[in-house]
Amino acid sequence: MSLVEEIEAIYKEAVSELSKLNSEDELDNKKNLFVGKKGKLTQILKTMGSLTVEERKTLGKLANETQEKIDSLVASQRIKIKDFFYENTLKNEFFDVLRPIAEPNLNGTLHPLTQIQHEIEAIFTSMGFSIMDGPEVETDYNNFEALNFKADHPARDTQDTFYTTDGKLLRTHTSAIQVRALRNLKPPFRIIAPGRVFRYEEVDASHETTFYQVEGMVVGKDISIANLIYTMETLLSEIFQKKVKTRLRPGYFPFVEPGFELDIQCLVCGGKGCSVCKHSGWLELLPCGLVHPNVLEAGGLDSKDWTGFAFGLGLDRLVMMRYGIHDIRYLHSGNLRFLKQFQS
Ligand code: DAH
Repeated sequence: MSLVEEIEAIYKEAVSELSKLNSEDELDNKKNLFVGKKGKLTQILKTMGSLTVEERKTLGKLANETQEKIDSLVASQRIKIKDFFYENTLKNEFFDVLRPIAEPNLNGTLHPLTQIQHEIEAIFTSMGFSIMDGPEVETDYNNFEALNFKADHPARDTQDTFYTTDGKLLRTHTSAIQVRALRNLKPPFRIIAPGRVFRYEEVDASHETTFYQVEGMVVGKDISIANLIYTMETLLSEIFQKKVKTRLRPGYFPFVEPGFELDIQCLVCGGKGCSVCKHSGWLELLPCGLVHPNVLEAGGLDSKDWTGFAFGLGLDRLVMMRYGIHDIRYLHSGNLRFLKQFQS
């Protein structure tokens, strides 16, 4: 076969091979068999060295023309492939322009902190407690002084405080409600006071500058630690929906005497010890105690006649325990993907 015939044969082969393809990838690969760097046409041109000048001219021209023809064949095949693809899509895909769109979910949802707060309010009101509210901007007197934190009391340092320029402060705990309750209510009484509190904290996975507490206070005749334990165990069993074991350890808070840290037996391992309870079998949950006589007196009651108990519940911690959330910052992030999980 002469070189001219070979080139013509290559062209014929290209026409028959390329025109039956129906994918662009295949087309690109196959094209290279003919006109690519290692393609058949290029290989032939490499053997032209031994030809005369005249022969080279004719062959070169023919090779160029063939290359161009193959290129335009590829281009028109590409258009055919695309047309085929669109036609096929149009035939097979049905698009109903009149179909109503899916109902967007515009329902808001209560924040998990609010949900747990409502649950706690329901539990306590069923036990005869009423709900009290107090201001977030408080006086030093209500937040500290009346709660037996004297001016230079070192316990003030345990609550890093934001002060306002007019000599007030952002309440560091809901215990600030205690004196308001003592002053405004006639004993005996039982109250809880849920609310937002503030501390000048370095923010990390377990600390926020803003968090939520529920304060509880019961004042009456002969109120004892047994009353306190019973109330706390009822609350916790309701919240966790199972019988919860508790223990009391001594804890120091200026406004209660004696003061306690109430621990619950770890709900994850049942007390055997696991990473959640740091292998102790117990989780520190709830500080509490019997109301200090000085607090009763600051509220205008005679501490010989009246006794009481008080407790402080951290709502953020409860929500985190209930849902296994490891970083408190999620709670205040406003992140909708996080919040949607709590849609009821
Ligand atoms: N107010 C305390 C705090 O935020 C918690 C607390 C401790 C509240 C003991 C109480 C109590 O009512 O009796 O650290």
